Amino acid sequence: MRISEPHIATALPKLGVDLRPGVGLTEMTSLGIGGTTDLLRIRDYRHLPELIGMLRDAGIRHRFLGGGTNVLIADGELPWVVLQLVSQQPDVRIEGKEAETTLVNANVAHVAAAADLGRTVTLCAKANLGGMEGLVGVPGSVGGALRMNAGAYGTQIGSFVREVEVFRAASGRIETLRDDEIRFDYRHTSFAPDDIMLAVKLELPSKPYGEILQGIRLCNQKRRASQPLNQKSAGCIFKNPPGASAGKMIDDLGLKGFRVGDAAVSDRHANFFVNTGRATCAEMRALIEHVRAQVSGRFGVELEEEVIFWSA
Ligand code: EPU
Repeated sequence: MRISEPHIATALPKLGVDLRPGVGLTEMTSLGIGGTTDLLRIRDYRHLPELIGMLRDAGIRHRFLGGGTNVLIADGELPWVVLQLVSQQPDVRIEGKEAETTLVNANVAHVAAAADLGRTVTLCAKANLGGMEGLVGVPGSVGGALRMNAGAYGTQIGSFVREVEVFRAASGRIETLRDDEIRFDYRHTSFAPDDIMLAVKLELPSKPYGEILQGIRLCNQKRRASQPLNQKSAGCIFKNPPGASAGKMIDDLGLKGFRVGDAAVSDRHANFFVNTGRATCAEMRALIEHVRAQVSGRFGVELEEEVIFWSA
């Protein structure tokens, strides 16, 4: 989708938005898959209500991209523009105590949705705020992690949320939701599909930096031993069904290495599907459907995708 309306192109800079025309989204996703569209980079989210209203009035559909690490995007020319928040420094602020890029206190960190999740974990660690060690190797932005309630090694980000600032498409306004107004479940939250995460207040337990660092090292070791970190993927493709492991079931079917074109089931972890070259979304979808059907046939379990699919 291309923005051709001159009044919009003129208004965007005033709203703190940079327009990048015709961007290949292969460059913006960890899977290296995705078609082409205009990208709107948002430097100041306070103008979001106006921006979204303007796009809606012009009939321009949009989608919101976080870090691009848990999304499978359709091929070809896409029928919507992509919006993305730009990280502004400092994107992590710890209440009370002022550090180089940070202001940290009372165990509360204020984090912008555009902030990198791993960097957030380490910045909080430096202020002796722990708890999120398991999340350090989860790639992506804090906003994406919040929306999905990202988790690993017994930790999920939702446990630390005190408040979230969101843009609610339903009201057209920026609102602050308290933790008791949000439900965080396994890789799922009660946010509306068109809510846009803007910032979060995290409350974290005090822990000495050295101890946090040890926890981080341990999780990194486990991850390196079991996951294909040097290949293009979106992490786990399917959610684990209650009481079972999707990876183990796919592995038991002998599907490691199975491929459709350049999309393959990882040799290392069977719930990671990797782009081994120039995989297309169509190939990845065909692989997902094949594996889902095999698992259903053998185990009678309908696997649900964890990766978010953006169809054209
Ligand atoms: N297993 C196999 N073969 C495989 C993969 C796994 O036999 O190819 C077995 C393992 O040996 C283990 C069991 O299955 O006994 C579970 O495997 P693992 O510990 O790797 O955990 P997982 O359930 O596959 C989950 C999350 C990961 C997270 C890890 C660590 C989901 C869908 N996956 O994986 O999250 O990093 O635990 O906590 O919840 C993600 O969300 O994208 C993701 C990668």
